[in-house]
Amino acid sequence: MKHDFKELKLDRVTRQFAGAGGKAFNALDELTLTVKRGEFICLLGPSGCGKSTALNCIAGLMQLSGGSIWLDEQRIDTLPPEKRGFGMVFQNYALFPHMTVAKNIGFGLKMRGVSPSAMTPRVAHALKLVQLTGQEHKLPGQLSGGQQQRVAIARAIVIEPPLILMDEPLSNLDAKLRIETRAEIRRIHRELDRATIYVTHDQDEALSLADRIVVMKDGVVQQIGTPAEVYAQPANLHVARFMGYRNVLELDVAREEGDRVALRGGDIVITGVRKQPLKGARAAVAIRPEEISVGEGPGGLNTIAGRVENVEYSGRDSLLDVVTSSGTLLHVRGPVTTALDDIVRVYVPVERALVYPAE
Ligand SMILES: Nc1ncnc2c1ncn2[C@@H]1O[C@H](COP(=O)(O)OP(=O)(O)OP(=O)(O)O)[C@@H](O)[C@H]1O
Ligand SMILES: [Mg+2]
Repeated sequence: MKHDFKELKLDRVTRQFAGAGGKAFNALDELTLTVKRGEFICLLGPSGCGKSTALNCIAGLMQLSGGSIWLDEQRIDTLPPEKRGFGMVFQNYALFPHMTVAKNIGFGLKMRGVSPSAMTPRVAHALKLVQLTGQEHKLPGQLSGGQQQRVAIARAIVIEPPLILMDEPLSNLDAKLRIETRAEIRRIHRELDRATIYVTHDQDEALSLADRIVVMKDGVVQQIGTPAEVYAQPANLHVARFMGYRNVLELDVAREEGDRVALRGGDIVITGVRKQPLKGARAAVAIRPEEISVGEGPGGLNTIAGRVENVEYSGRDSLLDVVTSSGTLLHVRGPVTTALDDIVRVYVPVERALVYPAE
């Protein structure tokens, strides 16, 4: 497989499985995506949305039920995985426990018939890229989880693949190691100058790593965009929820105010909402916990009263569950002095909220 490719193209890639009662369903439904050389792509979505299916289809570990995959002008979805030659890193490191780090990394080269003398400098280079020089004679069991995952990465990149595929490679690591290792992965990607497709269900990971994020739900792409686009302008309510807009208020249009409307639901009234995206008489207002503040809004507008029913202390502030008298739950960041059962008023700044037609 050539290494100086320009782009990988997925054209309506579909994969079917037999679901409950033997009825076929699309685990991946017409995924169309062009990955440019040098790009870091994250596939992001909840469990079962088809991320691994997509990756396995690209790697050749799974047959397509429809569509095609192209590396520049060459159609590759008909090739077996070894002919595609992509580097794979999985969630569990799957290293050979009885082989040294160097042997683990060199394994793919050996299988490709590379001579020992040609192998040594390539293994040394891969070790250097993942910053494990000096550890080559250790066994995997003598390394930390993060180091083992770096060996798995070295093993994937030593064959100099055009494309590196990673399926939740950090999910077995503790929080601190995850953050360190993801910085490593980004650095390695830059140094290799190939392309990486990275699967995660963690939006922070996707935001920090990706050039572009593909947000998926039930096998269907919801949005493809840069981290800033997906974060600030989620294409729909599903993407918004997934990107941390934890408060979604389903409200009725109560009255018009020029090009704005007031929305109402139970004891909640939100005024000054732009009319433009709305189609019917119902709307969904999505807002992040950190955008809602404890206190009174200007003129008492867009201010909601509720009881604090849960407090999660997080150092600088606390995450509060505030429940209104009509039973609506709001997630709000508030002062650490807030206590359980406090009655608080919270302000929803409407300019910081996203408004969608109700689902
Ligand atoms: N071999 C299979 N046979 C039948 N159904 C399958 C098979 N593999 C996956 N599925 C189904 O396809 C859907 C997508 O699965 P997939 O493994 O791609 O999800 P995922 O996004 O990787 O989830 P996770 O984050 O949990 O790893 C799920 O509904 C899953 O149950
Ligand atoms: Mg998966």
